Amino acid sequence: METINIIDAPKHVNETVKIGVWLTDKRSSGKIAFLQLRDGTAFFQGVVLKNIVGEDVFDEAKHLRQESSFWITGEIHEDTRSKFGYEIQVQSIELIGTSEEYPITPKDHGIDFLLDHRHLWLRSSRPHAILTIRNEVIRATYEFFNKEGFTKIDAPILTGNAPEGTTDLFHTEYFDHDAYLSQSGQLYEEAGALAFNKVFSFGPTFRAEKSKTRRHLIEFWMIEPEMAFMHQEESLEVQENYVAFLVQNVIDHCASSLEILNRDVELLKKYTKTPYPRISYDEAIEMLNKGGIPAKWGDDFGSPEETYLADQFEQPVFILNYPKAIKPFYMKPHPTRDDVVICADLLAPEGYGEIIGGSERAVDYDYLLQQIKSAGLNPADYEWYLDLRKYGSVPHSGFGLGLERFLTWVTGEDHVRETIPFPRLLNRIYP
Ligand code: 4AD
Ligand code: MG
Repeated sequence: METINIIDAPKHVNETVKIGVWLTDKRSSGKIAFLQLRDGTAFFQGVVLKNIVGEDVFDEAKHLRQESSFWITGEIHEDTRSKFGYEIQVQSIELIGTSEEYPITPKDHGIDFLLDHRHLWLRSSRPHAILTIRNEVIRATYEFFNKEGFTKIDAPILTGNAPEGTTDLFHTEYFDHDAYLSQSGQLYEEAGALAFNKVFSFGPTFRAEKSKTRRHLIEFWMIEPEMAFMHQEESLEVQENYVAFLVQNVIDHCASSLEILNRDVELLKKYTKTPYPRISYDEAIEMLNKGGIPAKWGDDFGSPEETYLADQFEQPVFILNYPKAIKPFYMKPHPTRDDVVICADLLAPEGYGEIIGGSERAVDYDYLLQQIKSAGLNPADYEWYLDLRKYGSVPHSGFGLGLERFLTWVTGEDHVRETIPFPRLLNRIYP
């Protein structure tokens, strides 16, 4: 007899198999018990018939508690009434671990209670569906960048630089030195691009932001590609192709997860069409004012502005060339205007806001040194970075996609906290 996973049940119809499972729910009458089972790969039903298993096994089945674990042996049958399409007709049960008073019951629990029990909540079908999609997005990310000829260059997590500004750094001690948890791997990816041409990183990113919005995590994961000999226009094409590829792969490989989450797949299909629209920051300000949303040139966009702008389009939209004053030091200055830089944010539809921030990079040594100084940074910490402009500086561009922001949008969740296994929030580092 073969030991299998629930996900492989379709390959074993009418065979007797053994599966290690947990009980999620059950109901029973005098002669029949229905066990809702999960093994981490899928959820399905076990049917226990008293006249087949006998009094003892039936009794044992009836007394199993939520989240107790056991080996189950039985025959796989098709079950046209369930979404999964298969069930197991139970022959025997071998208890492994008992479970008394499992805290997460089928009733409604508040979000704080669920987050306090995140280590258990991961077992429930919605978190399971979201994290299954997360896994697919990571897989598809590697596929995309591999097929496009990128090399993965890992950026350090302990660093001595602040690419995105000094306000939200996580400070730590590094023996006798000050250090920060990485805010972005970008500067290292720039070094990587000048060594490997097209590179990307995928790693944890830390922002000690005192913001408590549904879009902010203190620790999040970012994918940061960087391309040598590439201007911004071409980088935008990489960005839209990458995002469309991710959405298509989620549609193709995560149908049952999307169904559990009730995500409108027809809507997702619209996001696989490229190119995405592009408007300038100047046009965005005009659009906001026409729509009755007060915005003046120079303002950064918050959630209401981003939502309004994105609502004017059916696909994600690029907002190009923001004011220099509200963007980081490393962005390429505009060739004919000194008030804007060559950059773009990609805003997701349906009110999800910025999912990508990217730019062409400044290549001129003197300009960059000046920028570092006026950002209040210590040039000595950036000497290595300035070297990249000293020895064969080339046009190069890159961007960062926030994995959890992307997932919140694709899964249709309200809050970014549900798209990472163990969220770090302003008031939460437990569990
Ligand atoms: O716009 P950001 O700050 O850009 C950078 O860090 C650049 N160095 C990227 C690059 O060009 N290589 O962050 C990029 C993305 C945002 O668009 C957003 O999706 C995500 O990272 N992000 C966050 N996600 C969750 N919680 C936060 N606090 C986030 N801050 C940024
Ligand atoms: Mg940004």
